Amino acid sequence: MKKQILNTLSFSILLTLLPTIILGQQKNDKQHMDAFVTQLMSKMTLEEKLGQLNLLSSNANTGPFASKKYAEKLKDGSGGNIFGLVGTSSEINEKLKLAENSRLKIPVLSGLDIIHGFKTVFPIPLGLSCTWNMPLIEQTARVAAIEGSAAGYNWTFSPMLDITRDPRWGRVMEGSGEDPYFGSLVARSMVKGYQGDDLKNENSLMACLKHFGMYGAAEAGRDYNTTDMSRITMYQFYLPPYKAAVDAGVGSVMSSFNEVDGVPATANNWLLNDVLKKQWGFKGFVVTDYIAIYELMAHGVAADIKQAAELAINAGTDMDMVSEAFMATLKQSVKEGKVSMATVDAACRRVLEAKYKMGLFTNPYRNFDPGKATRVTLTPENKKVAKEAALQSMVLLENKSNTLPLKKNINIALVGPFANNKSEMFSMWSPNGDEGSVVTLYDGIKKINPNVNYAEGTQISNDSLLMNFAGWGFDQKEQKKLVDEAVTLAAKSDVVVAVLGETRGMSGEAHSMTNIALQDCQLELLKALKGTGKPVVLLITSGRPLIIQQALPYADAVIEMWRLGTESGNAVADVLFGDYNPSGKLTMTFPRSVGQIPIYYNHKNTGRPYAGERKRFFKSNYMDQTNEPLYPFGYGLSYTTFNYGKIQLSDTLLTGSNKTLTAEITVSNTGKYAGEETVQLYLNDPVASVTRPVKELKMFQKVFLQPGESKEIAFKISPEDLKFYNSQLKWDWESGKFNLYIGTNSKDVMKTAFVWNK
Ligand code: BGC
Repeated sequence: MKKQILNTLSFSILLTLLPTIILGQQKNDKQHMDAFVTQLMSKMTLEEKLGQLNLLSSNANTGPFASKKYAEKLKDGSGGNIFGLVGTSSEINEKLKLAENSRLKIPVLSGLDIIHGFKTVFPIPLGLSCTWNMPLIEQTARVAAIEGSAAGYNWTFSPMLDITRDPRWGRVMEGSGEDPYFGSLVARSMVKGYQGDDLKNENSLMACLKHFGMYGAAEAGRDYNTTDMSRITMYQFYLPPYKAAVDAGVGSVMSSFNEVDGVPATANNWLLNDVLKKQWGFKGFVVTDYIAIYELMAHGVAADIKQAAELAINAGTDMDMVSEAFMATLKQSVKEGKVSMATVDAACRRVLEAKYKMGLFTNPYRNFDPGKATRVTLTPENKKVAKEAALQSMVLLENKSNTLPLKKNINIALVGPFANNKSEMFSMWSPNGDEGSVVTLYDGIKKINPNVNYAEGTQISNDSLLMNFAGWGFDQKEQKKLVDEAVTLAAKSDVVVAVLGETRGMSGEAHSMTNIALQDCQLELLKALKGTGKPVVLLITSGRPLIIQQALPYADAVIEMWRLGTESGNAVADVLFGDYNPSGKLTMTFPRSVGQIPIYYNHKNTGRPYAGERKRFFKSNYMDQTNEPLYPFGYGLSYTTFNYGKIQLSDTLLTGSNKTLTAEITVSNTGKYAGEETVQLYLNDPVASVTRPVKELKMFQKVFLQPGESKEIAFKISPEDLKFYNSQLKWDWESGKFNLYIGTNSKDVMKTAFVWNK
């Protein structure tokens, strides 16, 4: 007994001391790191320090230092880091060895764009975000880190945390949509997934948040274009996901191509030094985007590459991606006093600290092991994560007369150029994915129902220039033949499943579009299929919300399937036949027309708010179209139906900031299938010192309900949830009335209100 009491006592003493022990340990680690880096730097020449700030590309370099050979740069320490390590495993080994044998034996960071999986490919990030499932999102990043690290990488240029409101921008596929709160949750999950609990774990990848900052707001949705917005908009909408990643301990940050407040991000002292490093206390390093230092000349802020490099490093850029401008010019700039040695040292220290934190000095190869790579890659467990992610990413947009799910024994006409294609299940950002292991839609459906026949049905687009970009052709005669074949097949079948949309070459970086409607030739096919009188299920594959209003009359059910990755076919088949009930919810608003863009749910009310109709003059509306989107943020149907009760508040008048308000609502499954619902809570501050959005997502919960089952969902609200950036850019809340909404998407909500005073 005495022994037991003693044990309990010592355990509780240990528990009390634990934070102090951990803090002490961290302090020791930090002291050890500081001493190690200081000692190392004392031995380094200026060239060697600049080498640490240099990120070499395996391909040709664009900068002035490009003439020196790649291997030579690794050997003499002037190429301190590698981007896009390629080759056989022995070639990779050789490259890593070259650096290891450099004078000071400083290991390299080996970076790559591992964006939505490595060999096992997950849905594109925009699709993945529609799962609203943070643990699952984290798991996909974890699997990517395990596979990527075994192949020789220790650093990934992910996650992309740019807020996106304009689907013309091709890069919306790489992000998590339009909401800052939601984007912040994704930021944390991705950083945790890649980096694990400790960057030293050899199967972790250092994450790199990008593109800092505001890159998603490119004017007219044209990639690389100017962005211009008020500071308050930056703080309220665009900066939170980046900050969340910094708070989660992201190891590196990539500056963006665009300008911010008139100064390109890569040369922006306010953005990099003041906000990121001083205000947010970011301890990692900043790398530029691809040759962004070089581009400072085209931006018109630097006359030559030397001045560009000076601007960049003085503004807080630590590492030069591929321009080789630092390596080629900074020695002279230091000599001339245009860049201080202290600035070079600070940047070099940040890079060396990252290498130290990753344990590279003791284990330069980390997880790199070709044998292990084979064992840990594309495993059944990894594919299971890929399938789960694919299932949960799909968003059911329409389901007239319960067309879906399909019976398992009917004859299916599977039509469309994407329906039996492995490569098209990937994206621009999955070049390392293993195409051989992709399950096509045809194969996935056939496993469950062998009565499926395939017809290509259409080419992608009759715009031949566009097709040059997208890597496909167009031929009028061929088109007629394809449509005829598909219609004949449809006429003999019970149901048509048409898979239409964009190719992987139509979205991603440098893939902006002004016409984001379903291409004409595809729409014509859809009309012809509908003409057979058979029910038509339309599956859309795309990297952005497309304009699909014109297609709706010709489809009985519509699913947005994004680009689902390795397990595409298995996941789609489960959804079509009802083995999985769709649960995805949109994270980007779907416009009715390009003219409505930019379009997002958390807009302001204006002084002349839209009043629900379009014919009124002197209101903020269009003459020719409603303001309402086709599908709002948070939207997504299920095979079952959910009913929301009335919102019950624990209080309607609160005073003081240390209180909590509880909002409860009963959600019931009123349909025939078990299903998962994402219950969303929005707040609105109708009177404040600055204008506030009409609604802001503040929290959500996922709930799984059997038919007939009800559950009470409770949300806890604190003053932290009422805070916003005021005109002094202070994060605070103001007394007054608040509207509270709970519902199935940002539009269809139950409403109540409360007053909270300070
Ligand atoms: C992109 C980045 C990417 C980098 C390296 C750039 O063009 O903007 O997102 O990480 O290339 O591939």
